[in-house]
Amino acid sequence: MIEIRGVSKRFGRVVALDRVSFEVRNGEVVGYVGPNGAGKTTTIRIAVGVLPPDAGDVYIDGYSVLREKTLASSRVGWVPESPIFEQEFKALDYFTYLATYKGLSPSDARRLGRELLNEVGLGDAANRKLSTFSQGMKKRFALAVSMIGDPPNFIFDEVLSGLDPQGIAFFRGIVEEFRRRGKAVLFSSHILTEVQMIAQRVVFINRGRIVGVYTADEIARLASPAIRIRLKHVDENVKNLLTRFGSIEVSENTVILREPRAEPSKILEELVKSGYSVEEFRISEERCLEELFMKLIKGEKV
Ligand SMILES: Nc1ncnc2c1ncn2[C@@H]1O[C@H](COP(=O)(O)OP(=O)(O)OP(=O)(O)O)[C@@H](O)[C@H]1O
Ligand SMILES: [Mg+2]
Repeated sequence: MIEIRGVSKRFGRVVALDRVSFEVRNGEVVGYVGPNGAGKTTTIRIAVGVLPPDAGDVYIDGYSVLREKTLASSRVGWVPESPIFEQEFKALDYFTYLATYKGLSPSDARRLGRELLNEVGLGDAANRKLSTFSQGMKKRFALAVSMIGDPPNFIFDEVLSGLDPQGIAFFRGIVEEFRRRGKAVLFSSHILTEVQMIAQRVVFINRGRIVGVYTADEIARLASPAIRIRLKHVDENVKNLLTRFGSIEVSENTVILREPRAEPSKILEELVKSGYSVEEFRISEERCLEELFMKLIKGEKV
């Protein structure tokens, strides 16, 4: 479990974080979403113990990052936004070096290296220099390193950016597996669509402040597109018909159907079959995901 409690941080005059609090429970994937510069990476660096907060604390499985840093840090695997490695090392050698640093014997470290590099799809690249690795390969390598010691908590910072579809599918799969195994996973991104498919809850941050926390179901509901239907006449019968498919708003001859419970084509078919003359039938983009994101970020009511 990851608990962020009242964390604040300034860089000179920039308030990067202002009393940020939220938690990631065991067996839960939480998306951490906000625009560039919102404070995601700063929060994450504080949570993994590489940056001290000005105020507040982070607890990893109950251990304070400030007061019990070694215990706290050993219980969280971190894949940084831009992983930096010793470029001239070969992957397996460097992995072995890092794993011995974390307390494994050299032979155990090497064995674990082979196993984890295989698991992240780098088995064939184990003896290649890290300087020859692509961005996606570096992220996979960082993932393998974060898995040393099989920590019960994981933090991924913008891990999907720059990955190809195969890489994205791979990281999604691994996050899902971690969740099934009861780990707490925090997953940052500036793209809501990316996070929505993977997280059970999403914490929104803007300018250093948490601006909303929603479950994936709430987001799906808030973001579901509305259907705008213009008819020749709107009578009670057509209102009753459309109410079966969602909540409706009527103004003159136009009906806006929110949270549609059926495929739009099915709704159109029903209208036509019942003899209504449909003049316009349009899926309105007004509530789709990115729009919702902008509204949340601006602090508008959703
Ligand atoms: N080391 C630093 N020195 C000065 N300012 C910093 C430093 N690190 C972060 N900041 C500032 O703190 C704010 C938050 O930055 P942060 O990197 O946490 O944002 P982010 O949400 O991760 O953004 P992105 O989506 O671009 O990765 C920004 O205004 C940034 O310029
Ligand atoms: Mg960042």
